[in-house]
Amino acid sequence: MNSVAAIAHPNIALIKYWGKRDEVLHLPMTTSLSLTLREFPTTTKVTVRPDSTTDRVTFAGAPAPAAFAAPVSRFLELVRGRTGDRRYAVVDTVNTVPTGAGLASSAAGFAALALAAATAYGLDLDRAALSRLARRGSGSAARSVFGGFAVWWRGVGAGAAGDLSSFAEPIDAPLLDPALVVALVDTREKAVSSREAMRRTMATSPFYPPWVAESARDLDRMRAALREGDLATVGEIAEANALGMHATMLGARPAVRYFAPGTLRVLDLVLELRAAGVGAWATMDAGPNVKVLCDSRDSAVVAAAVAEVAGGAERIVVTTAGPGAVLSDSGER
Ligand code: DP6
Repeated sequence: MNSVAAIAHPNIALIKYWGKRDEVLHLPMTTSLSLTLREFPTTTKVTVRPDSTTDRVTFAGAPAPAAFAAPVSRFLELVRGRTGDRRYAVVDTVNTVPTGAGLASSAAGFAALALAAATAYGLDLDRAALSRLARRGSGSAARSVFGGFAVWWRGVGAGAAGDLSSFAEPIDAPLLDPALVVALVDTREKAVSSREAMRRTMATSPFYPPWVAESARDLDRMRAALREGDLATVGEIAEANALGMHATMLGARPAVRYFAPGTLRVLDLVLELRAAGVGAWATMDAGPNVKVLCDSRDSAVVAAAVAEVAGGAERIVVTTAGPGAVLSDSGER
């Protein structure tokens, strides 16, 4: 029996992935750029079982709901298809990300699954190939393969050419020491999944094409700011890019709106902090929670202010840059 465990962390995009040009291969419309977090690891263990007649997917040992199990099994099929190994597996996931919190548990989950499954089935992949594989589970998982800042290239073309050219890479930013204060204003399951929301936005929002065009400019400017250690420019671009993404959703028909009352309170606070001379910038994903980017040196001040408007210290998480996907000792080989 071959058992391999891997750990990965969620990432927060500072330039968002929003829209696919290929729904099967998960080829994005835009290049995105993210920060992998130190908090909320997902550990996934893949045990290949010669005696099984089906895959078995569990959540901390208990049977996983079909909505979670089916994509995991499809992902294993993809891995098996590349090796010719027909044996099924048991996949156990221990997830510490609050589900539905807009913290992309799928990014950490599929990055960990890609590494554990590729290793368990004997696929020898370099990091770019691992990122491409993780992308097939969930687009944003391509970036969680790497620690710190990562860029996920849109890639060129369709089909095999697109697949080969769309992967993430780490970005060096030695002058920066960022922190993110996550405000959990509402952790209920969202009404519209990000997958459906991006589909609807692409199909119906007149604001989508200009956001895509602006995103390419955001990327060039942010890469330069990362190189120069200019967190203020990184933060300004991140905030504009995220709010622009939400504007595309508000323009969809019917509109997709993830803002909750608590969201606006945190966005207002971020403006107040900046007016008071504290470097703090907001970003949001497909949910109402706000992630506030700041320098690590300012994180205590920012966290205290965010906690006050978010409803207390238990409603916030302070995190910094975290590591990429790694194998863990908890598998036996
Ligand atoms: C708003 O990676 O979860 O968080 O590829 O359909 O699985 P699928 O989508 P997913 O989308 C993440 C969207 C986002 C922005 C981002 O992380 O870049």
